[in-house]
Amino acid sequence: MRIAVIGTGHVGLVVGTGLAETGHFVTCVDSNRDLIKSLNENVLPFYEPGLEELIARNVEEERLKFTTDINAALAEVLLIFICVGTPASDSGEADTSAVFSALQSIGKAMTGYRIIVNKSTCPVGTTEAIRFTLKSLTDHPFDVVVNPEFLRQGAAVDDFMRPDRIIVGCDDVRVEEIMKELYAPFLRTGKPLLMMSIRSAEMAKYAVNAMLATRISFMNEFAKICEAYGADIAEVREGLAADSRIGASYLFPGIGFGGSCLPKDVLACAHLAANRGISSPLLEAVSAVNESQQRDFVKRILEYYGEDIARKRVAVWGASFKPKTDDLRGGPALRVIDALLDAGASVVVYDPVAEGTLREQYGDKISITHKNYAALEGADGLVICTEWNEFRRPDYERMASLLRERVIFDGRNLYTAKSLAQHGFRYFSIGRPAV
Ligand code: UDX
Repeated sequence: MRIAVIGTGHVGLVVGTGLAETGHFVTCVDSNRDLIKSLNENVLPFYEPGLEELIARNVEEERLKFTTDINAALAEVLLIFICVGTPASDSGEADTSAVFSALQSIGKAMTGYRIIVNKSTCPVGTTEAIRFTLKSLTDHPFDVVVNPEFLRQGAAVDDFMRPDRIIVGCDDVRVEEIMKELYAPFLRTGKPLLMMSIRSAEMAKYAVNAMLATRISFMNEFAKICEAYGADIAEVREGLAADSRIGASYLFPGIGFGGSCLPKDVLACAHLAANRGISSPLLEAVSAVNESQQRDFVKRILEYYGEDIARKRVAVWGASFKPKTDDLRGGPALRVIDALLDAGASVVVYDPVAEGTLREQYGDKISITHKNYAALEGADGLVICTEWNEFRRPDYERMASLLRERVIFDGRNLYTAKSLAQHGFRYFSIGRPAV
């Protein structure tokens, strides 16, 4: 099939490349000239394992192209994927303006029948609004389906190529057949393609993210209760995870969920409810717990140093909102670094891949090291914000010799109190008795 993908962010690039990888001819379009120029030089705007090679191969095979020319891109395609960002507006509601401005271009550029596939996370009812708007922009026939994307940053290529399921919201049987044909190669192992109503598919995307966030906030709230009773959340987690009704994933307590999706989607869900006069205390609590988890972690660090904080040099391991990405957005590390800087401390950060995004974010307000141990030299303590694998089993003796003060604030529960006590460390983690 000939396919156009509008928007070359995390979703657009992975979706476009993944579809090309199964043999389709895909043109990715973006109005950002510099971005398209770097993509045509195979320079990616972000770090995503495996994506660069996949793009290079499909460009080489002439199945994948990047352009700013939407007319050329939409000329002979059947499917047009909308993969633009829908960030939270100030009110917390999802801002869909990028979707509707893409529609303006699509309406002008259409030269025949097209199927519009909305992959941007949009409030329920947006697909009908898309249909209504496009009707006013073109006389050509078209259909609109919603096809939410569930890929995770850091595992995006694998998540798209081997999805747990594919959801399509559609009200036309012919179009259903085309979507089944499109996704058949991705579902060879029997994972389901769930066809449902357009509104249910829009809602399902939010429900999945809200459920994931709820699990994390539940664990973080329980972590607090564990600390108050001297219980260990890691042991409690095992008890939960072994229950087949609960399952093991998304049960890791920490300093809260971040990223460009979960925080904004939980807020957007609460707005969906409020717009219909429905109270959503659970959703609001999920965000509130996430907020307090980050705030309390920062408070613990500032209280530990007290008035001395302005004379302290604090090392931070991990800045990205999770491992395997250079994305800082909505990450608890930003909260920690900002608070330390505001308190007058000097901050030195090490992150395996987020040096560029850190420099963009902080300029020379912080020091950035290329090696993890280098960040510890002469520091008055270490804060761990991201659970990169290389942080999991460090040389504690070497850490102790480099740090001026042997104290670790572990926001990801990487170590055990016992192993650190042996090396004379004070150790604060999440939901476990402090050393
Ligand atoms: C999320 C959804 O997982 C994905 O399906 C959707 O398409 C986009 O949003 P992503 O933002 O990449 O993906 O991050 P995810 O891996 O879900 O992690 C989100 C946050 O939760 C991270 O900050 C992570 O550190 C945190 N997290 C995750 C926990 O604190 N505990 C866990 O057990 C899992």
